[in-house]
Amino acid sequence: MKKILLATTAMVAVAAFALTGCSDSGRGTDTGDATEAGFAADSLIGVALPDKTSENWVLAGDLFTDGLKEAGFESDVQYAGASNAVADQQQQVSTMVTNGAKVIIIGAKDGAQLGTQVAEAKAAGAIVIAYDRLILNTEDVDYYVAFDNFKVGQLQGQALLDGLAAKFPDKKSYNIELFSGSSDDSNAPVFFNGAMDVLQPKIDDGTLVVVSGQTDIKQTATDGWKPENAQKRMDTLMQGTYNSGDTVDGVLSPNDTLARAIITSVKDAGQSDLPIVTGQDSEAASIPLIMSGEQYSTIYKDTRALVAEAIKMAQSLQAGDTPTVNDTESYNNGVKVVPADLLTPVIVTKDNAAEAYAENPDLLALTK
Ligand code: BGC
Repeated sequence: MKKILLATTAMVAVAAFALTGCSDSGRGTDTGDATEAGFAADSLIGVALPDKTSENWVLAGDLFTDGLKEAGFESDVQYAGASNAVADQQQQVSTMVTNGAKVIIIGAKDGAQLGTQVAEAKAAGAIVIAYDRLILNTEDVDYYVAFDNFKVGQLQGQALLDGLAAKFPDKKSYNIELFSGSSDDSNAPVFFNGAMDVLQPKIDDGTLVVVSGQTDIKQTATDGWKPENAQKRMDTLMQGTYNSGDTVDGVLSPNDTLARAIITSVKDAGQSDLPIVTGQDSEAASIPLIMSGEQYSTIYKDTRALVAEAIKMAQSLQAGDTPTVNDTESYNNGVKVVPADLLTPVIVTKDNAAEAYAENPDLLALTK
C-alpha cells in the first residue's frame, strides 16, 4: 500500500477542521481557553469503544484511560454494552459532545450508524478520530488510526497457503472453508477482501477448493463476531459438507476468538488431523495453541501502539498541529477518503512468535 504524506487538499481540509475546533464556543462543560493553537491542554477527550468482542478492545479501554491522563487530558472512556450496543454507543458519543469533548475517538460498533452523532460532534467543533474501525458514509470523520486492515487480510490469506503447503506437502489441492467477521463491522469486508486478494487466484486455478461453495461474504459472515455463531456454522459444515469422509484441510478465520471456536467444532466432529486455521489479535488463549500447533497463525496488532498513536493525534490537535498521516488513498468511507495513520500488522506463527512478541513480556511469556 502506498505510504504518502498528507496531500495538499487534505491539508486544507485538516486546517479547516483545526479552525472549526478553535471556533468552539462555550457549550456544556467547555473548559474554555481554546486558542488558535488548538484547545486547552486539560480538555476532555472522549473515547467510545464497542462491546468487548475480543481481547484488543478489553486492553484498549485501560490504555486510553491511563494514557490520556498521563498526557494531561480529562478523559471519558466508554464501552457499548453487549446488548443494545449501537444505541448505547450513539448515546455515549452524544453525551461526550454535550460535555464539550474536543476530540472524540470512536471504535465503532456499527460504522454505518454514527452519522447523526459525528455530525453533532462536528457542529460542536469536536474532531472525530475513527479508531481501528472506519466510520462510514459521513463527511464528519476527520482521521482514521488503525492497523492496515487490508494487509491483515492479505497476511491471513498468505498464512493459510503457507500452512497448507507445509502441512500437506504431497497434496495438489486443499479443501478449505472461509469465515468472515460481523457484517456491522466496517473492518470485516476489508479483512475478507485482503484475504481473497491472495486466495481467489488459488481458488480459480483449483489449488483451493471451498467444498461448501460458500465464498460470498454474506455466507461466511459471523454475526456479532460471536464464537458460538462461528462454531454453529462450522458444525453445520462438518455435519453436512464433510460427513462423507472428506476432511477440511484449512480454514480462513478472521480472528482468534473465532479460530478457537472453529477448532473446537472440527474436534467435536471427530476429525483428528486438525486443519490449518488462521487468526488475528494475538489473544492470550490462542498463543499456546499456536505453540502447540492447533492454531496455525495469528496477527500481532499491538494495542499499546495503536492507542498511543491515537493519543499522539489528540496531542497534535491540541497543540494546533496537523496530525501525521501516512495514507490518503485507501480508506474511502463511501463519502470521502479519510486521512489515515496506518500501523503495520505482523503475521505470527510458531516459527516467529518469540521474535514477534520480543517487546511484549506478557505475550512473550505465553510462547515459552
Ligand atoms: C478488530 C479485530 C477484532 C474484531 C472483533 C475488529 O474490528 O480489528 O482486531 O478481532 O474487531 O472484535
